[in-house]
Amino acid sequence: MQAREIIVIGGGAIGLATAIELRLLGAKVTILSKDFKAAAGHAAAGMLAPQAEQIPTGSMLDLCLASRELYPSWVQKIESISGINAGYWQCGILAPRYTQTEQNSAWLAAPTVHAQQAGLSESIVGGYWYPADGQVDNRALIRSLFSASQSLGIEFVDGVAVETIHHCQNRITQLETSQGSMSAQHYILATGAWSQQLLPIEVVPRKGQMLSVLVPPEQRDRLPLQQVLFGEEIYIVPRRDDKIIIGATSEDVGFAPQNTPQGVQQLLTAATRLFPLLQDFPIHETWWGFRPATPDELPILGASAYDNLTLATGHYRNGILLTPITAKLIADLVWHQKADGLLSDLSWERFNL
Ligand code: GLY
Repeated sequence: MQAREIIVIGGGAIGLATAIELRLLGAKVTILSKDFKAAAGHAAAGMLAPQAEQIPTGSMLDLCLASRELYPSWVQKIESISGINAGYWQCGILAPRYTQTEQNSAWLAAPTVHAQQAGLSESIVGGYWYPADGQVDNRALIRSLFSASQSLGIEFVDGVAVETIHHCQNRITQLETSQGSMSAQHYILATGAWSQQLLPIEVVPRKGQMLSVLVPPEQRDRLPLQQVLFGEEIYIVPRRDDKIIIGATSEDVGFAPQNTPQGVQQLLTAATRLFPLLQDFPIHETWWGFRPATPDELPILGASAYDNLTLATGHYRNGILLTPITAKLIADLVWHQKADGLLSDLSWERFNL
């Protein structure tokens, strides 16, 4: 049995980014990934949308805004290590509405909304405009993170399932895996929707189905959509590579795989109602993923019941947005024992009181 300094369990965006941050501080890091392709980060739309998601004022909004703030410089850092562009784009998010709702400083009246985005449903009566929200191409980001991790010498073991976490009193002693026993000085659990398979923490899967369409070649000179549309139960995310991502269902069906007719129909109906131009665009791909949902929709970050295991899971709808801040907070906690105030409401123990 070979001892490693830090083992990160989970090879999604959170696991990779946290491993990179720790490596940059000097740690020797190994990532154990059960199935790299299954991570929620691959399935996401990559929206950086604390305002469009209407996250209420409080610690979650503070966390999300802090992470959105970190994004440009953090992405630049990852890209400069990996050489892979992650498609960060502060394109703004427009949230059109079919009915008059509470109006605040972000509200635009109908003429302004329709002038800002041609081709919206004629039933749209106004909308909210969030210029500081945006997107990153989540799949490109994960490629960039993976490549950066390799450049930095982080060991990435794919196809290894952690089966049991052994402990003696309040310390993890070793991991039993499908490839034998492994141990480290410290462990980080970043297993997203699968976390409850390893520890009794309050994270369950919430399935999201998605699809993408392609902008037809004759419309690619000037893309018909250059901002995210965040509708009611639908979002439409244009990429610079001529794809448009449409998401997402939110289903409490455990780990039931595959796209379903009902799920895809729901997405297509809502998307073509909001932005009818899409109805003739060729469908490119359909897919699904599992968000790690917690009872209060806040992530679980920080100390665990074990002195040498730190939790970084439960990011629900905001994993891609929260990746930079999670990596920073967890690396500071593990490496410098510095617990940022942002962590105080995110402890696993909040559900056990
Ligand atoms: N972040 C959007 C979603 O989870 O569907």
